[in-house]
Amino acid sequence: MCGIVGAVAQRNVSQILLEGLSRLEYRGYDSAGICTLDNGECHLIKTLGKVNKLKEAVKEEGCPGFIGIAHTRWATHGVPSTANAHPHVCDNLIMVHNGIIENFASLKEDLITKGYNFKSQTDTEVLLCLIHSLLKTSGNLMSAFRTALKEVKGSFGLALMDKNDPERLLVARCGSPLIIGLGIGENFVASDTLALLPVTRRFIYLEENELAVLTTDTIEVTDLDGHKVEKNIVESDLDAESISKGKYRHFMQKEIFEQPLSLQNTLLGRLDNDEIALETVVGINSDTFKKLDNIQIVACGTSYHAGLVGRYWFEELTHVTTNVEIASEYRYRKAVVKPNSLFITISQSGETADTLASLRIAKEQGYEHSICICNVNGSSLVRESDFTIFTKAGAEIGVASTKAFTTQLLSLLLLALIIGKQKGCVAQAQQQNIIEAIRKLPALCEEFLACDKNIQSLAEKFSGKRHCLFLGRGIMYPIALEGALKLKEISYIHAEGYAAGELKHGPIALIDKEMPVVVVAPDNALMDKLISNVEEVRARGALIYIFKSGESDIKNDSQSKIINLPDCPEVLQPILFTIPLQLLAYHCAVINGTDVDQPRNLAKSVTVE
Ligand code: G6P
Repeated sequence: MCGIVGAVAQRNVSQILLEGLSRLEYRGYDSAGICTLDNGECHLIKTLGKVNKLKEAVKEEGCPGFIGIAHTRWATHGVPSTANAHPHVCDNLIMVHNGIIENFASLKEDLITKGYNFKSQTDTEVLLCLIHSLLKTSGNLMSAFRTALKEVKGSFGLALMDKNDPERLLVARCGSPLIIGLGIGENFVASDTLALLPVTRRFIYLEENELAVLTTDTIEVTDLDGHKVEKNIVESDLDAESISKGKYRHFMQKEIFEQPLSLQNTLLGRLDNDEIALETVVGINSDTFKKLDNIQIVACGTSYHAGLVGRYWFEELTHVTTNVEIASEYRYRKAVVKPNSLFITISQSGETADTLASLRIAKEQGYEHSICICNVNGSSLVRESDFTIFTKAGAEIGVASTKAFTTQLLSLLLLALIIGKQKGCVAQAQQQNIIEAIRKLPALCEEFLACDKNIQSLAEKFSGKRHCLFLGRGIMYPIALEGALKLKEISYIHAEGYAAGELKHGPIALIDKEMPVVVVAPDNALMDKLISNVEEVRARGALIYIFKSGESDIKNDSQSKIINLPDCPEVLQPILFTIPLQLLAYHCAVINGTDVDQPRNLAKSVTVE
């Protein structure tokens, strides 16, 4: 989703801004733009498509200046076009914006009556003109900025420059993340720390309704009423190298192959012989969950699928009723919250707008505690939750989530064990068995990755296919959903995940020899039931690809191909069987020639509703 980079320095900033934009590409966008100020002149360049095009344009046209702002836009109001791309300009003011101004239409009408003409269809230009009109009245940019922000409804991360005051960058946050980077004799702003890692690792996270004025030497943070706010400086443990592809062709491929390491990192310091170290969950003590009676999990996309798997573990290991819901639905439902309830959010980025809104609502609904399972330290969800489990997957750049998902699953399993133990539902021997299995996970993950070549040739069979079904049962049903999501988001093959038992209630009507059916069939108690479902599909002429472990009666024949996978402990099956499905999606996308890391229309971090 949209990205912001800004800088005020004692050197030309265009390269810093462009590098920052490249590092935000993974978030998804359709156009890009940059503006610098130099000797009272404004250098504005905007291009449709990739940041590389903007880089070429900057090379040709030049973009000098010690202060500047840049943006990648993911269209919300108005089609992707250079006119709608940011930065937007209104007379002496130049601005970039992430988020949505909800009351833009009425504000726009008002501004038109005051004589403003609009060059774009964006809500951003409306806000900018509003600031401009208030500046004309007050003569003070900061007070015009504040007053305008009080008038708008919606969400924003903003960076604003004034041609008449080229020493200062004004920034503000409400609903869209914004981070200030501290340099020496230079300061920066961005919507994501990754954008600024080449220039600094010291950051200030702006909170809701905070504004800041940045000069080369000073950073002053205030609230909307102008009261000064003291902020902590946070040192990031990421470095610029965390976002290179290394020997891999795509970030997604690299991230799939990083899973043994990322799972190892998730476990680091968290296993204490046969116990889970309490530090696994930042902030809890040994009694926190003793009285727990209900769990509500809320998330979006792949993280929601992790939550669906988590429910099986929570109910089995903690005996606590667990519900899972998509955040965009939860936030508008009048949920009934029983006493002793725990609210869990799951999010790779920690900035997903609907998940964050759900957490804020949950806090008013009377949940006893909130926990966030998150990959990004310092993110909004982390800062606003009572407790956090960091997944420690490392920066995930590919839009399609892979290592973040498997580390979310492992974190959920650890949490289920902690709660189960505190509630006295997990016997010592059972815990020992699970921990023993967990210790083997990184090595087993390597074994599963060894199926890559097989899956690569299997992917050729999906070439030219338009639709695909994924079937699973029990805890593997959410894995079928995730397999389908991966395939559709990066290869653009329409794919649906189904609980195999539900097949005869509708989807079986779709089956013919043009429809590949992927069956997720690890060796577990539901295997026989699953085989019956497979027979129903086979009888309708489907081409079946069965990802299986252990012995079973399913045989290779002209209609069905078996992909044999290593044996693994049952508790780890959801994590490990995800890997071949990620690889299948990846290789299908490569064959289909899609933009694997930045699939069309998708964004990594969805910071608008
Ligand atoms: C977007 C991404 C998905 C991700 C979802 C939730 O749709 O493309 O990969 O699963 O957002 O994001 P979160 O950061 O909350 O996990």
